[in-house]
Amino acid sequence: MKGIFAAILASAVTGVLAAPSPVEKGPVTARAIAPRAACATAVTLSGNPFASRKIYANKFYSSEVISAASAIADPALAAAATKVAEVGTFMWIDTRDKINIVEDTIKDVPCDQIAALVIYDLPGRDCAAKASNGELPVGSLAQYKSEYIDPIVAIFKKYPKTAIALVIEPDSLPNLVTNANLQTCKDSASGYRDGVAYALKQLNLPNIAMYIDAGHGGWLGWNDNLKPGAKELATVYKAAGSPKQVRGVATNVAGWNAWDLSPGEFSKATDAQWNKAQNEKKFVELFSPELKSAGMPSQAIVDTGRNAVTGLRKEWGHWCNVNGAGFGVRPTSTTGSSLVDSFVWVKPGGESDGTSDTSATRYDSFCGHEDAFKPSPEAGAWNQAYFEMLLQNAKPAF
Ligand code: GLC
Repeated sequence: MKGIFAAILASAVTGVLAAPSPVEKGPVTARAIAPRAACATAVTLSGNPFASRKIYANKFYSSEVISAASAIADPALAAAATKVAEVGTFMWIDTRDKINIVEDTIKDVPCDQIAALVIYDLPGRDCAAKASNGELPVGSLAQYKSEYIDPIVAIFKKYPKTAIALVIEPDSLPNLVTNANLQTCKDSASGYRDGVAYALKQLNLPNIAMYIDAGHGGWLGWNDNLKPGAKELATVYKAAGSPKQVRGVATNVAGWNAWDLSPGEFSKATDAQWNKAQNEKKFVELFSPELKSAGMPSQAIVDTGRNAVTGLRKEWGHWCNVNGAGFGVRPTSTTGSSLVDSFVWVKPGGESDGTSDTSATRYDSFCGHEDAFKPSPEAGAWNQAYFEMLLQNAKPAF
């Protein structure tokens, strides 16, 4: 995922929307599964769904990690790796085929935990980049609805006693805010808006809490992007009928920004004067009131999965397999901010953001930058060396 996170750098002097620039533009033994105690009652989520619930460590990621651990020769590092399998992460439903895994991701979730999934299959996906272009072409909204969203909703309806958190369509609406000049994003725009609205409306079940993707501080955080960003999200939210179970936004998904590093990582850059959201905390503090005044719920979850090490990116807009990264703060609802429901691990650390193979159809030049880890496989595919690097650089350590 991730496009050219072009910021609207509307100059204060001209007041003109400048052309987007790329300023800121994802065998040890298997875990024993305890028999699931039947949950007594149907879940109705209101308030912070993470406050009393741990995020479920889905089997897909934990088995990726368990087999990665078994491939590590150093016993201490291998032991540390197995601990990563216990971290609750989001399961990406990034193709219609993956709908098969939805049931597996929710059926064994204990009553005091919450399943976490990413809805990610819009037509014309990843319109400002190539690495995560999806399976559905522009114009296939009907298929998105009937072959992707509807079957997922049907599965969720079978499990009313399971709490579920969803991140809705990473990058899609932010791309419409800052990359609207690209032909690919123009072509995708109506499908994104209608698709996200449909998803929000259909997934609005009592046991579900939804967070719409809002990019990150180096994307919608630019002074001139905050209002248009909030407006874009709120418009789609309202088009969906202001669904009750939308809790707010997800930020830093598959991203690298620090939570509260001060001064922020790019605060000395020449364009820093146009961005007050120099860390994700600042971004949430600035964006949340904008969402509220645009008429949308404004709580946030923040991806801290790979943000332990800062100072690695040459530019804020570099998004692909950043070299030197480390696992960040573990998921917790103790965030120190009333605006943030939880720190979460949305991007499953170890899965690639995009291929470094220049001959691949989905090769994106961002994955060939000097600060990108190479070699890297296709987006979503496992990169053992990258996983080991994240583990070695983890803060706190495993
Ligand atoms: C990327 C990929 C997607 C994958 C996700 C999580 O965005 O495009 O296929 O599921 O990252 O790793």
